[in-house]
Amino acid sequence: MSPRVLLFTGKGGVGKTTAAAATATLAARRGLKTLIVSTDTAHSLADALAVEPGEIAPGLHLRQVDTQKTLERHWGELRDYARGVLGELGLDEITSEEITVLPGAEELIALLELREHAREGRWDVIVVDCAPTAETLRLLALPEALDWHVSRLMPVGRKVLRLVSPFVRSVAHVSAPGEDVMNAGERFHRGLMEVRELLTGDHASVRLVLTPEAVVLAEARRTLTSLSLYGYRVDAVVANRVFPAGGADEWRAQWVAAQSRLLAEAEQSFAPLPIHVVPYLPAEPVGKDALAEVGAAMYGDADPFAPHSVEPPLRMSADELSLALPGAGREDVDLARKGDELIITAGPYRRILALPAALARRKISGAALRDGVLRVTWAAQPYDSGSESAT
Ligand SMILES: Nc1ncnc2c1ncn2[C@@H]1O[C@H](COP(=O)(O)OP(=O)(O)O)[C@@H](O)[C@H]1O
Ligand SMILES: [Mg+2]
Repeated sequence: MSPRVLLFTGKGGVGKTTAAAATATLAARRGLKTLIVSTDTAHSLADALAVEPGEIAPGLHLRQVDTQKTLERHWGELRDYARGVLGELGLDEITSEEITVLPGAEELIALLELREHAREGRWDVIVVDCAPTAETLRLLALPEALDWHVSRLMPVGRKVLRLVSPFVRSVAHVSAPGEDVMNAGERFHRGLMEVRELLTGDHASVRLVLTPEAVVLAEARRTLTSLSLYGYRVDAVVANRVFPAGGADEWRAQWVAAQSRLLAEAEQSFAPLPIHVVPYLPAEPVGKDALAEVGAAMYGDADPFAPHSVEPPLRMSADELSLALPGAGREDVDLARKGDELIITAGPYRRILALPAALARRKISGAALRDGVLRVTWAAQPYDSGSESAT
């Protein structure tokens, strides 16, 4: 049985860690075997829960990734992988110091660990406290972007390798990564793809945390679009730090009014997603009891651990491809075709899709963005090389 995986993301400081910890606490109190992990390198989970990592309550386990230790464990594969891919791309080899400063590297390692936890088979629920929006996105897109490089590079390398013996190779200066390098690289790459499958699969969903502020809301909208672009399924929004109505003073009345305007806007933007509201508490919700209360307020009667019913954003049929891009306007979306690849751009984000053979052979007959869904249709005519472009 696959565990239910719940990811929490949002802008820095909005309450991701709080929402994640509250959800996990609630799960454990309902008797679900729960693991909470953080991919954010600012380890505030233990602070929020006011505990040390380990079994922190009956049925509730907190794991904190020790990046250094995990990096050492995965280092060989990472290095070989980077060497193989970068080498083929004509780039210089990367050093371990460089890889740790690569954006997202630490999170990536945390995600690789996540896959191992999911495999253990002992968890009903895995809650993931993610790093702030942009980082997480880049990272979540990474496996597929790498897949693109690898699927075009690795097979070539393999073929060359099979054709030429090591002796001929050294004489002819054929660049082919060694078999050992390839295996480590492929192993690592498979790990990344498994993480992606886990996080975009039927048992996983993302909860977008925000506070009712204009800047935060704008970013949350873009996050929803890009998560969908990459195939992740958002099943709810959490609106945190909402001032309770009441009280007589002007300052508070103004905040309450401004927030309720923004909440109404959020409801429009995110419909049909439910918005779970968490009040602005009189004190920081630290510790399991306070977090359990946040959890209860956040979900009310809704069951936060029930299977989600969000369709996969990307669907392909014999002559149509559709991709949900909620919140995207026509001016944000761009489509280009290069051979058997479709390159879809939404704002600053880009996804490269390898077309299945049946679609790759034929011409695109039309593309349109309507009601937040991009639809690309294929004609019967064969596709000749060169590139097509449409918006
Ligand atoms: N609803 C709330 N009411 C009062 N304080 C809150 C609330 N939600 C979060 N906080 C506090 O705000 C701070 C930031 O929250 P945190 O969950 O760490 O944000 P993030 O993980 O998004 O950076 C923490 O000190 C937390 O205890
Ligand atoms: Mg946090």
